[in-house]
Amino acid sequence: QRKHKVTVVGSGNWGTAIAKIVSENTAKHNTIFEEKVEMWVFEEKIEIPKESPHYNPTSPLCQGPQNLTEVINKTNENVKYLPGIALPKNLHANPSLEDAVRDSTILVFNLPHQFIHKICDQIKGKIVPYARGISCIKGVDVNEEGIHLFSETIGRRLGIYCGALSGANIANEVAREKWCETSIAYDPPHLDSKEPSPQQSPNASSTDVVIQFEHKDTSGKLSDVKLRPVPSEYPPVDHALLKVLFHRPYFHVRVVNDVAGVSLGGALKNIVALAAGWVDGMGWGDNAKAAIMRVGLLEMVKFGERFFGATIDRQTFTDESTGVADLITSCSSGRNFRSAKHSVEKRLPIDEIERTELNGQKLQGTSTAVDVNKFLKKQGLENEFPLFTSVYRILTGTMSVESLPSQIEQ
Ligand code: NAD
Ligand code: 13P
Repeated sequence: QRKHKVTVVGSGNWGTAIAKIVSENTAKHNTIFEEKVEMWVFEEKIEIPKESPHYNPTSPLCQGPQNLTEVINKTNENVKYLPGIALPKNLHANPSLEDAVRDSTILVFNLPHQFIHKICDQIKGKIVPYARGISCIKGVDVNEEGIHLFSETIGRRLGIYCGALSGANIANEVAREKWCETSIAYDPPHLDSKEPSPQQSPNASSTDVVIQFEHKDTSGKLSDVKLRPVPSEYPPVDHALLKVLFHRPYFHVRVVNDVAGVSLGGALKNIVALAAGWVDGMGWGDNAKAAIMRVGLLEMVKFGERFFGATIDRQTFTDESTGVADLITSCSSGRNFRSAKHSVEKRLPIDEIERTELNGQKLQGTSTAVDVNKFLKKQGLENEFPLFTSVYRILTGTMSVESLPSQIEQ
């Protein structure tokens, strides 16, 4: 039996925390997975801060700016994006994207959504054709054709099946092994156990099999992806295997089929968290924030049912970690919430707060609010989503935070 090789594409705050989790599990389950996990790092120069325990003025690592990958591999710590957290020794930081994904059968995509198209273009045709993906990205992909989940964008661009992971998961807490839950959604067409069809050459190995399947994507449209089954030499990639790969005593995984619900819960709550941050920054108190969360949740569910109604289950928003639970944690201490709050308190644009306070980490709510608005405007439905629309208008300076209560009143 062959072992799955796992690569994490991305190494920011959450990318590194998830890489830590999967590396712990590949080491523990080394009959199923290769122990070594590759983590692709967008290379940059960094200086080890003087307050870091790794700072030693005589060390070559502390003689001016160094490659982030070298610092991670030598210190077993991502001192820039996840400082203070010891990473497993079987996690390898790799600056070469092509090298990191080579021969990997499980690809975990975990980077800010604005970079995913470029990444997919770079690795298209260079990955194992029967690889499977999990997207940890919180955002939606809007273009002229409409709206897609990033799991579907990745799947379509790479010709693989990609599920999603999303939940109430502030990365710094997870990395400190503070207990939480997450949701994984995985619902590929049932190919993996399929025997090669009789029309195929008897000499073809299972890795040569290409099955064109008629598969509806989450919005109910016919997908044109050609999928290859995972060869039978590997353990099947299914709910049980994903639980083995991601579940930790401090990171409880529930695996479901609702890819749209899990993905949209993570993407849309970031828009609501911005509004919660502004309201908190105004000093309006917890009742006001709860009102924002109530209206936000209703718009999240409505959006999901309206545009992904073919597959979505509204209970995902209440019963799983994605949805209400993520909304609560994100509106309490997430970066979108904190940055929006500071932008009101300091009377500064949120982009400036992002640039000056997040040390290279990226907000996802601001661009998601713009993307969602572009989509709603095209549908002529801005008025049906007053909170999402208000967040967009406040971001673009055409509405004030003070008018939020009257705008979202129904
Ligand atoms: P982050 O906010 O820490 O972003 C920084 C990352 O972006 C770094 O790895 C940096 O190298 C990379 N980057 C910068 N410029 C780049 C470029 N041109 N090309 C490619 N990469 C570039 O990222 P994150 O926190 O790991 O977030 C990844 C995803 O996970 C997001 O969609 C986010 O919403 C989601 N998420 C984050 C958290 C969290 O608490 N941080 C929790 C759950 C989900
Ligand atoms: P922020 O990106 O706002 O920090 O949200 C983190 C998150 O998604 C927690 O689940």
